[in-house]
Amino acid sequence: MANETKVYIADLKDNVEKLVTLSGWLYRSRAGGKVLFLIVRDGTGLCQCIVEKGKVSDELFDELRHLGQESSLMVTGTIRAEERSAGGYELAVTDAKVICAATDYPITPKAHGVDFLLKNRHLHLRSQRQWCIGRVRHTVIDAIRRFFNDNGFTLIDTPIFTTIAGEGEQTLFEVDYFDRQLHLAQTGQLYLEAAAMSFGKVYCFGPTFRAEKSKTRRHLTEFWMVEPEVAYIDFDGLLELAENFVSFIAAEVLRVNRSELEVLGTDTESLEKITPPFYRLTYTEVADMLMSERTANFMAEQLAELKDQKEKLEEKIADLEKQRAAGVKKWKAEKIATEIIEIRAELDELEAMIENNPKHAKLAAEFRWGKDLGGSDETIISIMHDKPVFVTHYPKDTKAFYMKIDRADDKVVENFDLVAPAGFGEIIGGSMREDDYDVLLDKIKHEGYDIETYRWYLDLRKYGSVPHGGFGLGVERTVAWLAGEKHIRQCIAFPRLMDKVYI
Ligand code: 4AD
Ligand code: MG
Repeated sequence: MANETKVYIADLKDNVEKLVTLSGWLYRSRAGGKVLFLIVRDGTGLCQCIVEKGKVSDELFDELRHLGQESSLMVTGTIRAEERSAGGYELAVTDAKVICAATDYPITPKAHGVDFLLKNRHLHLRSQRQWCIGRVRHTVIDAIRRFFNDNGFTLIDTPIFTTIAGEGEQTLFEVDYFDRQLHLAQTGQLYLEAAAMSFGKVYCFGPTFRAEKSKTRRHLTEFWMVEPEVAYIDFDGLLELAENFVSFIAAEVLRVNRSELEVLGTDTESLEKITPPFYRLTYTEVADMLMSERTANFMAEQLAELKDQKEKLEEKIADLEKQRAAGVKKWKAEKIATEIIEIRAELDELEAMIENNPKHAKLAAEFRWGKDLGGSDETIISIMHDKPVFVTHYPKDTKAFYMKIDRADDKVVENFDLVAPAGFGEIIGGSMREDDYDVLLDKIKHEGYDIETYRWYLDLRKYGSVPHGGFGLGVERTVAWLAGEKHIRQCIAFPRLMDKVYI
């Protein structure tokens, strides 16, 4: 075994017909009478390894036949091109060495509950779906850094222990800092504004914390956010920056992660459409749209379509069950069982959507100008568009104190949320910043904040104040959208949720 070249599964294509060794874990296995099919994963992909009786010793054949899921092993053999194999190659095994035999791995191909999987996240990370999402996340983060680094931005690391609130005091996590109350960063933005006055174009990228009492699929208490901030930018320039940025990330994911997206079942055609310009709607236009008959009709059509899809899935399950009842080989029965589990999960989702649709439709019909857009309103905007939508100019009372009041209409601020399509909701929040000393001072007083704490932030409006703006993009929401994963808790390795922190 010692003389063979060690390769990664990702590099099989460069080693066809060569004798190589893979080092990995047993993902799954299936045994015929005289042949074993071992699906091995090594962190770079999956490879089917074929062990034929007689080609290895009888003891080894027997050991491999009984090897448990997630045992670690090294396998040696010749790589063959095989179209029908996942990845396009397979290994004809000549030798193998078990490194650590595992028995009773707790996560099996059957369906497990959310809590069970979160408690076993340290193991669940090895599942193919979590692996694919992790790879997409890596690409997203790499693209984020590259976009800003290649466009003249300077990275500024803003503090995590902070003295000031950015996004409202009700979601601050307090920390006892040597007998002084500080809080965990909700945003790096305020510090970044100071840095923008030195470097011009800056960004920060790090974990952010919100004591958000929301148990939705869109909220974490610890998430990663990237925030650019630019001096002398105007509102249109800001929207352009955001759409170029998001388009670049989507293009990178499409370029790098095709095979992962395929496994995840992502609709890549819709990702191809993510190119500038995005839709632009004002808050007022959105408010009118939500209350309109067009939206009521759209929601009714949506409901009918969902019910139709549900019926089709139920028929599919009935059909599979009939096949199983008619008697099939063991491996086929297992395949059917897995398929049924997957369809049931889809059905659960559909049922939730069917249940939510009338509630969302009612909330939309009852929407009134002045209210903040809620998750359900975002969902409606999101499903009505095939590309991201900028919603701009919100009523000033619904938004953070630092946002610049629109000088043409002082009821609204020069801000935007970017709403991703297909029901994913807000992925970016951004704005021009109030750059007038007196107006900002009034806003700080209005919020009831301690002026002394904000003195340094006000200073920025005293010494060479300029128009400036920026935005924040949430990494997990972006990954969820691009990977086609409904719940953002799946988009960070070890999620922190309001009511669920297990490991
Ligand atoms: O809209 P938000 O609150 O904006 C800010 O924090 C600004 N200071 C950004 C700026 O202008 N520099 O948050 C920005 C983004 C949201 O659009 C969302 O993607 C993500 O951060 N986000 C969350 N992601 C997961 N869980 C939560 N609880 C989140 N809250 C915000
Ligand atoms: Mg926001």
